[in-house]
Amino acid sequence: MEKRHVGFDLIEYGSEQELSPEDLSLLQKAREAREGAYAPYSGFKVGAALLLESGEVVIGSNQENASFPSGLCAERVAVFQAGARFPDTPIKSIAITASGRVAKLTIPAAPCGNCRQSMLEYETRQGYPIRILMQGAAGAVYECPSVASLLPLGFDGSFLT
Ligand code: THU
Repeated sequence: MEKRHVGFDLIEYGSEQELSPEDLSLLQKAREAREGAYAPYSGFKVGAALLLESGEVVIGSNQENASFPSGLCAERVAVFQAGARFPDTPIKSIAITASGRVAKLTIPAAPCGNCRQSMLEYETRQGYPIRILMQGAAGAVYECPSVASLLPLGFDGSFLT
C-alpha cells in the first residue's frame, strides 16, 4: 500500500491590487461579462473571461432557462465560444467572478464540476495548462495553476482508447 498526495499550491491574493496588470484586466473583463448574465431564477450572476494566446479575450456569462437544466454556466459559455471561434488558439488564463442576489460575495467563485470537466477538455486538447483566477464580487482572488489541479484524477480522452 502506498499513500500519495494529490493536490496543488493555491495562490491567494488578499486583494486584486496584488495582481499583474494583465490579470487585473482579465478580471475586469470577467466582471463586465457578468453584466450580460441572464439569471432571473437564481439571481446568481457569473462572468468569465478567457485570455487566448493571440491576446484575444473571449467572454461568457451564465444563461438560465425556465427549464433549469437547459441553462448554461458562464465558464462553459466562454470555453465553447472560444472553441467555436478560435479552435486552434490555446487558452492561457480564465478569470471567473460572481455576485449573489443580496449579500456581496467576498469568497472566490469556484467553478462547478461540469465546468471543470468542460475546461479540462480544452486544456488536454491544447497540451498545456490554463491558469484559473477566481473572485467573488470583491475581495480575495485565488489563482490555480491548471484545470487539472481542480479536477484531480480527472477523466479525459486518454481513457477512450
Ligand atoms: N453557475 C455558473 O455560471 N458557473 C459555475 O461554475 C457555477 C454556477 C451559474 C449556473 C446558474 O445560472 C447559477 O450560477 C446558480 O447555480
